[in-house]
Amino acid sequence: MNSSALVLERVDAGDRAEFQSSVLAGLSRMPRAIPAKFLYDAAGSALFDAICELPEYYLTRTEIGILRQCAGGIAALAGPGCALVEFGSGSSVKSRLLIEALQELVAYVPIDISRHHLDETAQRLRRDYPGLRVEPVCADYMVLKALPAGLPLASRRLGFFPGSTIGNLEPDEATAFLRRVRGLLGREGALVLGTDLKKDPRRLHDAYNDASGVTAAFTLNLLSRMNRELGADFDLAAFEHEAFYNAAESRIEIYFKSLKRQTVHVAGRKFSFSAGERVHTEYSYKYDDASMAALARSGGFEIVRTWTDPARQFAVSFLRGVP
Ligand code: TRP
Repeated sequence: MNSSALVLERVDAGDRAEFQSSVLAGLSRMPRAIPAKFLYDAAGSALFDAICELPEYYLTRTEIGILRQCAGGIAALAGPGCALVEFGSGSSVKSRLLIEALQELVAYVPIDISRHHLDETAQRLRRDYPGLRVEPVCADYMVLKALPAGLPLASRRLGFFPGSTIGNLEPDEATAFLRRVRGLLGREGALVLGTDLKKDPRRLHDAYNDASGVTAAFTLNLLSRMNRELGADFDLAAFEHEAFYNAAESRIEIYFKSLKRQTVHVAGRKFSFSAGERVHTEYSYKYDDASMAALARSGGFEIVRTWTDPARQFAVSFLRGVP
């Protein structure tokens, strides 16, 4: 075994310890909640990729359609010679549209928490764009305070945060995230942000409650993951996925819900659930022009331009740091 494999194993053990302490803390507080980032293990990431293909889940396909239209406009605003830094790159399908449109791209720096996704993506991009410098950073972009030294980061850094992932943050977290991103991107930095827009609640509801049950499987995979990694004994048939639109808060709320009174063991500890009790996993906030502008401003950015699809379902915005 070489030393890099050793390092990888130690990181994995650290990941498991973090998962365990977060789960135990999240199940010990009331109301119960488990941080959404733990949904994305290998199985969860694969299920999420499947969600993006669902007929009900309009977000991904709509955002890709907008990016196809506006990539040239983004490149014009960004100017030549920037480094593209993507926060939570996953499989980097959308970034390809920017990689192909940006002029004299200095480097592509995908940041992702999943080493596996990151390595596969980097390999594929290097194959498809032989001249492109790909510098993956394996990190939790939610806490990353600085980019690693030695990266070929141009003075102009273009951040990319697609997928309405900003919507998975609560407003104060979203503000804090944008402020940190502004710091990472530097004085001349700009950010391309994808945001899901407020719309008919039924459309929103269906996007998180698909008929084929993939979204439910995505949520319940968190229970399988606890069973696998933390020696838990969740009965997957005794819990269900629940998602609904809370119009007052402009957000989809996602939970897993206990279908009966039951006790579950996790990492040697006992947790009792009442019938109907929910464990929160994620929010997905929906924005409009006004709330988006307010969010950008609170994070130290201003919106230079926003592109949407004809039905105004989704928005892609170009933000610049306010001096
Ligand atoms: N950012 C996406 C969204 O809010 C991703 C997402 C998070 C998601 N949790 C989900 C998608 C659950 C479907 C189901 O839509």
